[in-house]
Amino acid sequence: MSHDFKPQANSLSNKIIMVTGAGDGIGREAALQYAKLGATVILLGRTTEKLENVYDEIEALGAPQPAIIPVNLLHMSPEQAQQIAETIETEFGRLDGLLHNASQLGDLSPIETYDIETWQNVMQVNVNATFLLTRFLIPMLRVAPAASVIFTSSGVGNKGRAYWGAYSVSKFATEGLAEVLADELENTSVRVNIINPGATRTNMRAKAYPAENANNLKTPEALMPLYSYLMDDASQSVTGQRFNG
Ligand SMILES: NC(=O)c1ccc[n+]([C@@H]2O[C@H](COP(=O)([O-])OP(=O)(O)OC[C@H]3O[C@@H](n4cnc5c(N)ncnc54)[C@H](OP(=O)(O)O)[C@@H]3O)[C@@H](O)[C@H]2O)c1
Repeated sequence: MSHDFKPQANSLSNKIIMVTGAGDGIGREAALQYAKLGATVILLGRTTEKLENVYDEIEALGAPQPAIIPVNLLHMSPEQAQQIAETIETEFGRLDGLLHNASQLGDLSPIETYDIETWQNVMQVNVNATFLLTRFLIPMLRVAPAASVIFTSSGVGNKGRAYWGAYSVSKFATEGLAEVLADELENTSVRVNIINPGATRTNMRAKAYPAENANNLKTPEALMPLYSYLMDDASQSVTGQRFNG
């Protein structure tokens, strides 16, 4: 059902959906897909030029005009997260979807010699900034008639693997955050789920596996039935679940 989901035309029209890390890889593809289905997409990421390119692609599709929030999650403060939530309240009055997608890979190295600054940066981007955004956006999600939050994990997010260091630990934390939140919001209109995309042809994958032939990997586009399903009202009663891409 979720993996071969075929969304109806304009199934996300009237929905306001934020995608973090929307400038590249899976986040870019998801932003384009949600826009094609009629959503107003809020593109959050750190490289303005990449976000502007996605913005232009969305405009060229004739989809609803997106919004851009250039922000480096590494330096995200509580005040900045609150400011983002206030901007969304002023501009849109609610948030129907939140795709937590932006992540840092960090280093592939043993814990014994793991670079300490890299560890802290990975945890800051992948966990702390995700928490901050979520915390301040929950009131906006509650206002929506049926809101969907998607957290992005990994194959090393519930089974540790040597040398995956901070990335693996950050994904365990991400899954923990998602499970706690899903439980807290169980009887509300906000659903919370986890996607582990699996090996996908992106820059991050190429950094982790530089010797592999990327042509053998699935494309971000191939994940879009699942990403569409979890933003669609068809998944309204689905919460606290983990999906593999
Ligand atoms: N690809 C895979 O095989 C795979 C497998 C399992 C899980 N995942 C997960 O899937 C998600 C998407 O990964 P991807 O493969 O699409 O990676 P990607 O191609 O590297 O894209 C990640 C996006 O996140 C943004 N980002 C990174 N750090 C940021 C920061 N500090 N502030 C704001 N934005 C930031 C990047 O911005 P810039 O473009 O400006 O760098 C980029 O747009 C991640 O959560 C990843 O852990 C991927």
